[in-house]
Amino acid sequence: MARTALVTGGVSGIGAATAKMLRDAGYTVIANFFGNADEADSFHAATGIPAREWNVADYEACRKGVEAVEREFGPVDVLVNNAGITRDSTLHKMTPEQWREVIDVDLGGCFNMCRSVIEGMRERRFGRIVNISSVNGLSGQFGQTNYAAAKAGVIGFTKALALEGASRNITVNAIAPGYTDTGMVQAVPEKTLEAIVTGVPVGRLGEPDEIARGVLFLVDDKSAFITGATLSINGGKYLA
Ligand code: CAA
Repeated sequence: MARTALVTGGVSGIGAATAKMLRDAGYTVIANFFGNADEADSFHAATGIPAREWNVADYEACRKGVEAVEREFGPVDVLVNNAGITRDSTLHKMTPEQWREVIDVDLGGCFNMCRSVIEGMRERRFGRIVNISSVNGLSGQFGQTNYAAAKAGVIGFTKALALEGASRNITVNAIAPGYTDTGMVQAVPEKTLEAIVTGVPVGRLGEPDEIARGVLFLVDDKSAFITGATLSINGGKYLA
């Protein structure tokens, strides 16, 4: 039986590339999205992958969303926590809302989604969770105290849950992508982005598929001995 994979933020950028790659590898894939219904419609029309809307920052919405997915498609074997936002600002200008939104989506979303699938994974004694962190959670980044804190938090969360899941064949890993050619990165001011790319040893942005390859590897049944790891895929930008 094909394994079932749920990808949050799965209709654009790294999430969409991941959803398609998992689907092409034989997984039954469901893409979650929130607030970008037009993009979700186009994604579904182009790929046939079902897209379901809820806000990962909302705990009850996650519980209900996962329940509905499991009723329709069967138990979630693979969870990819990819949904994330930025609200870039230097700290002296950052509002409490900019802080909270990023923490609630990028870090809170990991808790809300993992909490919603973990009991089933424990009962079935199988699970693969990949949390998408960021190079900036490892290195820090000017203008991103909120995002760097959330993405560093994702790595600690990943390690702790990896320890809890180990005895039940649930692996939990993080990927720390570098600057990747997605809408999020294209929103960075042009001059700033040029300077950032200059600092990437391979001299270019990553492609979403280059991150998705890492997810595909980590969620494989045969990757059972890899847990609590953080896989950097960043063109050499930061060697942690
Ligand atoms: N390091 C040191 N100093 C910097 C700097 C840097 N990286 N960037 C800017 N500065 C300096 C500027 O030179 C300027 O100096 P002066 O005051 O002496 O003139 C000062 O800081 C103010 O800079 P800005 O004019 O840029 O400040 P701003 O308030 O207009 O903008 C900002 C701040 C919104 C954070 C803007 O700098 C920015 O967008 N930076 C990019 C942040 C970034 O990389 N985001 C990544 C988004 S993609 C992502 O996050 C995906 C992923 O996982 C990788």
